[in-house]
Amino acid sequence: MINPITYNTCSIHFVNQDFTVLDAYIHKQNYSKVFVLVDNNTHIHCLPLLTERLSISVDVIRIESGEETKNITTSLQVWEALSNLGADKKSLLINLGGGVVTDLGGFVASTFRRGIDYINIPTTLLAMVDAAIGGKTGVDLGNLKNQIGLVRNPKMVLIDTFFLKTLSEDEKKSGMAEMLKHGLIDSKKHWLQLTKGNMLSNANSLPLIYDSIQIKKQIVTQDPSEDGIRKALNFGHTLGHAIETYALSKKEIKPLLHGEAVAIGIIMESYISSKLTSFSVKDCDEVKRVILSQFKQVIFPESSYKDIIELTAFDKKNTFGNVNFVLLEDIGKPKLDCRVDKSLIIEAFKFYNS
Ligand code: GLY
Repeated sequence: MINPITYNTCSIHFVNQDFTVLDAYIHKQNYSKVFVLVDNNTHIHCLPLLTERLSISVDVIRIESGEETKNITTSLQVWEALSNLGADKKSLLINLGGGVVTDLGGFVASTFRRGIDYINIPTTLLAMVDAAIGGKTGVDLGNLKNQIGLVRNPKMVLIDTFFLKTLSEDEKKSGMAEMLKHGLIDSKKHWLQLTKGNMLSNANSLPLIYDSIQIKKQIVTQDPSEDGIRKALNFGHTLGHAIETYALSKKEIKPLLHGEAVAIGIIMESYISSKLTSFSVKDCDEVKRVILSQFKQVIFPESSYKDIIELTAFDKKNTFGNVNFVLLEDIGKPKLDCRVDKSLIIEAFKFYNS
């Protein structure tokens, strides 16, 4: 049995198709009503496993799957569903799904009646190692990612790798990108553990998922509201988010999963690091080699560079009109709040495309 990880008022439990710890917690807290938020996929593939194992009855609220759903209109539908189904201040919302469900569900729970308890049961690798941990909740504003939201922790997170069996290879890779990011900001040791052998099956392995969650936990415990070191978790994301937004809005590039866009952002921000810090060209080339061994290269036309660079202006880390990048001085040594010239970003596109 793996010991739970705790931070703030949240405990992260590692389970194997056994929800006794959740059942006991719900009884202890004496919730007035329990709701489970699912999307179309987790409704079919994950909900039966959960409800069969709980001794209490739950009301299910279902939303459509996909990033396009992560908006205020869907939030309104979920607030209304909670209200119509008799939720009160002492109700609990359990979010069963990937990052869209945990981000949106956390946001709805944190704002309904000024905040009810919520629990995350992430069903994708990305949500297990990142989205469901650390209390960031929110929705997109049009195509702009995570512009509306707040930081408020779940009471509990349950990690059950059994759910990963239902994931496509692309979904697993998307989670792998966040694990690689954790490796790069944490240590050479962790980066090497992730990148040796068969990376795709490594990414699914509980010890590596556990380590990835520990890295995130250590960072969010030190800096819950992202005033300092938590920004390191955004390595690869300044360009990653801009690329993801661009790909969602333009027909000439197919929509990218979050991790696919972050993987590109990691290569480009490694290149920028090698130009502006002591990050070695050798490590930069290795980051590119490792990522392109797993992710299909997306070719960006030169005409897209300007639009993507403009989208970095909406990054949440920006202050006083400046775009703040996280770079690496070495593997395990992030450097926060770095300014980058547009010409260097264009060079980074060329490096990625080459
Ligand atoms: N996903 C980055 C963070 O939680 O800070």
